[in-house]
Amino acid sequence: MDRKGILLLIICCLFPCMTTKQPHILFIVADDLGWNDVGFRNPDMITPNINKLAHEGVIFNSSYVLPVCSPSRSAFMSGLYPFKTGFQHYVVGNSQNTCLPHDLTLLPQQMKKAGYSTHAIGKWHLGYCNWNCTPTYKGFDTFFGYYNGAEDYFQHTMGPFYDLRDNEKIAWDQKGKYSAQFFADRASDIIKQHDTQKPLFMYLPFQNVHAPIQVPPKYSDLYPHVVNYGRKHFSGMVTALDEAIGNITKSLQDRKMLEDTLILFTADNGGELVAYANNWPLRGGKHTLWEGGTRVTAFMRGYGIQNAGTHYNGMIHAVDWMPTLIGIAGGQQVPGIDGINQWDSIRMNQPSKRTEFIYNLDDFFIPSQGHAAIRDGDWKLILGYPGLYDGWYKPMNDTRDTPLYDFIYTPGDKPARLFNIKDDPLERNEISALHPDIVDRLIGKINVYRKSMVPANFPTPDPMAHTVAKRNGGAWSPGWC
Ligand SMILES: *[C@@H]1O[C@H](CO)[C@@H](O)[C@H](O)[C@H]1NC(C)=O
Ligand SMILES: *[C@@H]1O[C@H](CO)[C@@H](O)[C@H](O)[C@H]1NC(C)=O
Ligand SMILES: *[C@@H]1O[C@H](CO)[C@@H](O)[C@H](O)[C@H]1NC(C)=O
Repeated sequence: MDRKGILLLIICCLFPCMTTKQPHILFIVADDLGWNDVGFRNPDMITPNINKLAHEGVIFNSSYVLPVCSPSRSAFMSGLYPFKTGFQHYVVGNSQNTCLPHDLTLLPQQMKKAGYSTHAIGKWHLGYCNWNCTPTYKGFDTFFGYYNGAEDYFQHTMGPFYDLRDNEKIAWDQKGKYSAQFFADRASDIIKQHDTQKPLFMYLPFQNVHAPIQVPPKYSDLYPHVVNYGRKHFSGMVTALDEAIGNITKSLQDRKMLEDTLILFTADNGGELVAYANNWPLRGGKHTLWEGGTRVTAFMRGYGIQNAGTHYNGMIHAVDWMPTLIGIAGGQQVPGIDGINQWDSIRMNQPSKRTEFIYNLDDFFIPSQGHAAIRDGDWKLILGYPGLYDGWYKPMNDTRDTPLYDFIYTPGDKPARLFNIKDDPLERNEISALHPDIVDRLIGKINVYRKSMVPANFPTPDPMAHTVAKRNGGAWSPGWC
C-alpha cells in the first residue's frame, strides 16, 4: 500500500461515514394516486405492502409535485421547474414534436456516472418523437414500458396504435397481460440477475392507477363493500399496484438487498377526481393548483434513514428528488438546478432546506389554462385559473356515480387567491383582501421567477406521428422529428 492508500485507510477508520457504500435505489412513481388512496391514510384501501414500507420509513406530509404528469416527470428527471424547460403547459400528446431539451443533465445520467446500473420500467411521457428523446438515450441502460401518457392496461394501445417497448424493440408479446404484473416481473428479473457488488438504480413509474379503470377481477373483488363501480375497480387497481410493490420488495429480500436499498415512493400529481381517485380532505385534484392536485402521497424507506416510523413535515418539491437521490448515491450534483438536496433534513428529521417553491407558472393568456402559484413559508398565492375541480370530495364508495357538482371557477373570475396553508391546509379561507401587502410581495416574487420562464413547448399535433406508427406495424414509434 502506498502512502496515499495508508492515509485513506486512516481517514476511513476515523470517519466510518466516508466508507458508506452506495445503496440500491428504487424510485417508484404511482400515476394519479390520490392523497386518500392509500391504506395508511384511508382504512378502506387495501395496501398492506405500501403501508408496511411507509411505516418502516418516513411519510412525507408536505411533498409537492406539479398538477399533471409530464411536468412532474420532467422535474423528477431534471431537477428543474417545468417553466424553465418548456414543460409547464399540460402533458405531452402522442403526436407532439416535444422532448426534454437535449442540453439538460438528467438523474439517470448522473446515477450512471456514479457507477449505478440504471433501469426504467413503466411510463415515460417525456416525448419520443426522436430516438434521442427516449429513455435508453437519456441515461437508462434498459427500458421496459411505454412512451405515451395512458393506454389500455391489457392491449397496450393508445388510440389506434400499440405502445410498449422492451428497450427499443416493440414488445408485442405482452398483449393481453396486465401491466402492473409484467412491470413487477421485469423489476424482479433485473433484481435476480443483478451483480450485488454494483449499485442498482431503478425508476419504476407504474401505469397504475391512471385511467382507464381496468383491473383483473381478483383485485376489485377485494372491495365487495364498495358499491360504486368506478371506485371499486379503481380501488382494485391500487391493490394491484400494492401487490406489484410487494413482489419487488420480496425479490430484494430474497437476494438480501432490501436493507441496502433506499425506496422513494411518490405520486406524480393528485388523484384524478373524474377517474374515481380521492384526495380527501384536501381541496381539488389532478389538473389543479389546489393542494389536492399538488400535495401528494410520498414516503421514503430504508438505507440511512435514522428516524424511521415518523412523519416528515418539511417542505419538499418534485425538483428536490433529483439532487436528493444523487446525494444519497454519492454522485455529482448538477449546478444551476432548482432542486435542493434534502437528504440530511429527511434522514435526521431536521427542518427542510426549502422555504418556497413554484406550484406552476404558465402563460396567463391561454384561456382556461394560464396560471401561476407560489408558496412562501405558510403563504400560498394563486393567480389566474386554479383548474377543475375545486371542491372537497369524499371517496365515492356509495352509489353516487357523478361526484362533481361543486361550483367551478371560470378563468379570470378572481385575480388573486391567498391562503395560509399552516392555519388552513384545506384552503377554505381565501384571505387576499385581509393581506394586500402579502399579495403584492408574492406577486413580486412570481414576477422575478417569470423572468426565467421559457415559452411552453406545446406544438400542434404532427400527422407524421401516425405515418411513422403505421410504418412500424401500428406502434407509436420515434422517428418523426
Ligand atoms: C405477485 O406475485 C405472485 C406470486 O408469484 C403472483 O401470483 C402475482 O401475479 C404477482 N402480482 C403482481 C402484481 O405482479
Ligand atoms: C365510504 O366513504 C365514507 C365517507 O364518505 C366513509 O365514512 C366510509 O367509511 C367509506 N367506506 C365504505 C366502505 O363505505
Ligand atoms: C400534516 O400537516 C398538517 C398541516 O398541513 C397537520 O395538520 C398534520 O398534523 C400533519 N400530520 C402529521 C402526522 O404530522
